[in-house]
Amino acid sequence: MLRRPRRNRKSAAIRELVQENNLALSDLIFPLFVMEGQGVKTEVTSMPGIYRFSQDLLLEEIRECVDLGLKTFALFPNLPEARKDKYATESLNPDGLYLQSVQAIKAQFPEISIMTDIAMDPYSSDGHDGIVEHGPQGLEILNDETLEVLGKMAVAQARAGADIVGPSDMMDGRIGYIRECLDEEGFTKVSIMAYTAKYASAFYGPFRDALDSAPRFGDKKTYQMNPANSREALIEAELDYLEGADFLMVKPALAYLDVIKLLSDNFNLPIAAYNVSGEYAMIKAAARNGWLDGDRAMLEALTAMKRAGAKIILTYFAKEIATKI
Ligand code: PBG
Repeated sequence: MLRRPRRNRKSAAIRELVQENNLALSDLIFPLFVMEGQGVKTEVTSMPGIYRFSQDLLLEEIRECVDLGLKTFALFPNLPEARKDKYATESLNPDGLYLQSVQAIKAQFPEISIMTDIAMDPYSSDGHDGIVEHGPQGLEILNDETLEVLGKMAVAQARAGADIVGPSDMMDGRIGYIRECLDEEGFTKVSIMAYTAKYASAFYGPFRDALDSAPRFGDKKTYQMNPANSREALIEAELDYLEGADFLMVKPALAYLDVIKLLSDNFNLPIAAYNVSGEYAMIKAAARNGWLDGDRAMLEALTAMKRAGAKIILTYFAKEIATKI
């Protein structure tokens, strides 16, 4: 045998020398949940180790993460039912929980990057990402009317100090519309992380528990993508690219590694993977039962996302990884 591939695996030193992909802390974005109150944190039952924090404790959490080397965070609000309505009005309240928290974080940590979320669901009494109306075919999620709300959210978040805005709603035309709204207000430096290929997935369950944001009726299949499709992701990516996106995201990650690869092969923008709540929950649950080695499964899953072509990974494991690598 002239070719013996095992030679390149014979020792840890050689294996590291030939390792093609490495996970770095600088690849990670840590999603965080903020809630009302003071001095309180509550664990998300389906996401062991992940908490909703009141603003004061959130700042302490970020301090710990920054000390561990994390630099970018994505923030989502958990709001009481009383603040939700049909038009997600609370999302535009400059004195409300979310925009206040963004402002407080940037005041205390000007050097870090905050990615905000643009979608109506955490503020919507219908639990949908857009405005719901009765149409000829029953209830419909309106596209163009929703864009107006999203544009205003983008500007309000930029004003609060967002470095990156993340439209996570899958409405058509949102990237271009939000880009124009931001630019008109002088926020040309605010980046857009396009949730390009976001699938109608069962893996979002624990996130909806965290925010109490599950749709009150129906599902999200008229706006999020069908898990059976990959070529359709190229249409979404092309539009997001042309409309001015700075990053293209695939979500979820693990069941969609082929889509990550497809976008990374076809577009030169940085590709992000969202290692979603259900993917976190699966590994945690199995590890808690002693059914698999949680640390190894976590690193293997995240490294696979990098191998598929993701430069950036949004993951609830970020803090844990920062303590371990
Ligand atoms: C909704 C949104 C969702 C997530 C991020 N933004 C869930 C959904 O579409 O219902 C899911 C994130 C996760 O599961 O970790 N705008």
